[in-house]
Amino acid sequence: MAAETPLMERIVALCKRRGFIFQSSEIYGGIGGFWDYGPMGVELKRNVKEAWWRDMVINPPIGPKGEPVEIVGIDSALIMNPKVWEASGHVGGFSDPMVDCRACKARFRADQIDSSQCPMKPSKCPGQHDKCDLTEPRAFNLMFQTYVGAVQDAASVAYLRPETAQGIFVNFKNVLDTSRVKVPFGIAQIGKSFRNEINPRNFTFRSREFEQMEMEFFCEPDEAMMWYEFWRNTRHQWYVNHGLKSDKLRLREHAADELSHYSTGCADVEYLYPFSADFQELEGVAHRGCYDLTQHSKHSGKDLSYFDDDLWQQDAAKYKGDADAAKKAKENAPYRYLPTVIEPAAGADRTTLALICEAYTEDQAPNDKGQMETRTVMRFHPRIAPIKAAFFPLVNKEGLPEIAEKMFRDARRRYHVAFDTKGAIGRRYRRQDEAGTPFCITVDGETLKDGSVTIRDRDTLQQERVNQSHVMSWLDERLMSAKSD
Ligand code: GAP
Repeated sequence: MAAETPLMERIVALCKRRGFIFQSSEIYGGIGGFWDYGPMGVELKRNVKEAWWRDMVINPPIGPKGEPVEIVGIDSALIMNPKVWEASGHVGGFSDPMVDCRACKARFRADQIDSSQCPMKPSKCPGQHDKCDLTEPRAFNLMFQTYVGAVQDAASVAYLRPETAQGIFVNFKNVLDTSRVKVPFGIAQIGKSFRNEINPRNFTFRSREFEQMEMEFFCEPDEAMMWYEFWRNTRHQWYVNHGLKSDKLRLREHAADELSHYSTGCADVEYLYPFSADFQELEGVAHRGCYDLTQHSKHSGKDLSYFDDDLWQQDAAKYKGDADAAKKAKENAPYRYLPTVIEPAAGADRTTLALICEAYTEDQAPNDKGQMETRTVMRFHPRIAPIKAAFFPLVNKEGLPEIAEKMFRDARRRYHVAFDTKGAIGRRYRRQDEAGTPFCITVDGETLKDGSVTIRDRDTLQQERVNQSHVMSWLDERLMSAKSD
């Protein structure tokens, strides 16, 4: 694709060409705001989600005082009792101000009129054609509605969840009662969320169906600011560790007038995607106070407070002989309280898209004839690359394919790897470069003599010879060490 084609278009074209991302139901003309991940994309996004889960739930970071952090996972239903969304405020307030055009019937976000396009030709902003007839802005709820059961009436209305977070809050007590967690601790969830976005756009950035990776961290109110700062910095660093190393990544603290009424702090991890001149939100880290647990306590009538038994055991002796005072003390702070919540809320699709944009590179590399040519290479961090290594025989004879295939079969037990015998070796390298495969391993004539193979590095193009019996440990070292970068 010509270099003058805008960068985002070149990235979208590569995503289609190499099977990263397709338009949903494309053969029927697609549907706005919905996307499908192809064979490469699904591996990439799975690696993003697995990296998040491993770094949050399996092996969480060490806390600000050097203590191990405890986080457990859940997987809650997409459809919940609609009262959940009344309590959370989504039924009443989860809306964008919308403007409709009575002439062309199109609908626009009131705050994006200047950057929207009227469907009438020639392209203009809504309101700029003589025929345009815009309404006053009206609130439009972003939740998708459905009906549960056979009867479609007001009593059977339910919603597809617009965030995974509420599934965590409504299970707070279940988790407390069934696992041995103690405040401070977190509950994490990865899953689909749905928002009927008015203007889905910028590829997968603003979709109507997307995946979130959210963690609600429950802590003592007095320690909330410490934990807020800890998670804000930890989450920002997580993106750097996974390849967003350029100055296109930043952490932005919200100004006081951007905060929700219940919040005392919020920071966004932002990325400068090629489709915009402005930084855009990748993840929000919010200090949510005890708003959510308070709301769900009120609406469900269930006590969602936390009792700090360790603290009580330390102090119980003070109340010895005064059962009434002990009972009263146990019902109040500092022993019983609603924990404060710090919420790092990330998007798996936005993270995947940022990693794709950051990885996309065009450079010069020699072709099979030794001439320099432009290559497109996806410089993914090895930890998230869809394919970790590709095995090639240099030629399809002399037993080389069999050796390469045997190595491939051994390696695939541990990693997602590829085997390719088609075309000149240079073309095979190019295919793997576009998929972002960090290492290509070639079996050649030397292999027959001394058992060595070449391993080519995607980024430096350097080749080194390694004995075939050491290839797995060579890969382990590169791929495992990449995990703790
Ligand atoms: N529980 C808090 C919450 O949902 P949010 O900022 O609305 O906060 C968190 O969403 C993350 O979910 C965002 O930072 C973004 O990565 C992702 N996200 C939100 N809306 C999205 C959309 N329409 N398309 C893709 N990702 C989205």
